[in-house]
Amino acid sequence: MTNSCEILVSNPVNLDTLTSQLATLELEASHRILKANSAQDLEQLRISLLGKKGGQLSRVLGAMGSLPHHQRPLMGQRANTLKKGLQELLSERLQQLETKALGERLAQEAVDVSAPALYTPLGHGHPLLSSLEEIVTIFCGLGYQVVDGPEIETDHYNFSALNIPEDHPAREMQDTFYLSGGNLLRTHTSPVQIRHLESHAPPVQVVAPGRVYRRDAVDATHSPIFHQVEVLAVDEGLHFGHLRGTVIQFLRTFFGDLPVRFRASYFPFTEPSAEVDVQWQGRWLEVMGCGMVDPAVLEGLGLDPERWSGFAAGMGIERACMVRHGIDDIRRLFSSDLRFLHQF
Ligand code: DAH
Repeated sequence: MTNSCEILVSNPVNLDTLTSQLATLELEASHRILKANSAQDLEQLRISLLGKKGGQLSRVLGAMGSLPHHQRPLMGQRANTLKKGLQELLSERLQQLETKALGERLAQEAVDVSAPALYTPLGHGHPLLSSLEEIVTIFCGLGYQVVDGPEIETDHYNFSALNIPEDHPAREMQDTFYLSGGNLLRTHTSPVQIRHLESHAPPVQVVAPGRVYRRDAVDATHSPIFHQVEVLAVDEGLHFGHLRGTVIQFLRTFFGDLPVRFRASYFPFTEPSAEVDVQWQGRWLEVMGCGMVDPAVLEGLGLDPERWSGFAAGMGIERACMVRHGIDDIRRLFSSDLRFLHQF
């Protein structure tokens, strides 16, 4: 900082020259104090003005020694008044600067409480998985257990054990992906029926959800990979009424109170067989296949069909999900399009 208001003390001094020097000091010092822009500048200014050694006021006062005795108290008083005034001005300016800095900081850190909150998207279940879980949960409520089976299957479990022999035209109902080594990708969840009954003696009540594969070209209603839930109950005395009651109970819970109809159909592993439709927006939509477990299947497992009977059902989960939510294209379920997924 330059001492632009350095005051030269003239020699010899008298009351008038000292008084005018004090006045000049006051004027210039006040000006510089008011112009100081930081606490640091103010502190340097204080030292250069009021510092005991070499401060400008001390230097004026130092010259007081040359005044006649009777003038000294008056001069001392004036110098003290000036000192006090400057001290006050310094602390006022300091206060001002602090207030200004605080104001600036507050403005910078201000929180606009009326600003819209940041959008934090919440994750949620994929509609397909939610449908799968819901279907399984409904059957669990009816006393069913969840079981699992491999996606890579043998011809035996996927076809033969389900009463679909090698040369049977029913094999062509399901176009199969064959793997090298003779295995295949399961075309339905029905092989889990066989695997479960091989290792569990009846009575059984199980559901088997999972992925299945077919050589279908992709379009609005077909995908080479999709999901099914298999339902199987085997016990003494089970008849078609049990199947019908179970299916209707499930459909009412999952779809609500839509009209339901059973249509006679054919599956090699059930006899009799039916397909089940629900009426939605004036149209009948097929949602599952079902039937009484064919005695040939039970026999193949070493179970006496005179004693044991069973019913089974299989449904496509994509299909159920699409009917349930009014989705028009199966590809949407595999597209990961958030605009679509956010709706569920
Ligand atoms: N597995 C059949 C299919 O994928 C669906 C099916 C029909 C399963 C009747 C069953 C059943 O358990 O009883 O087309």
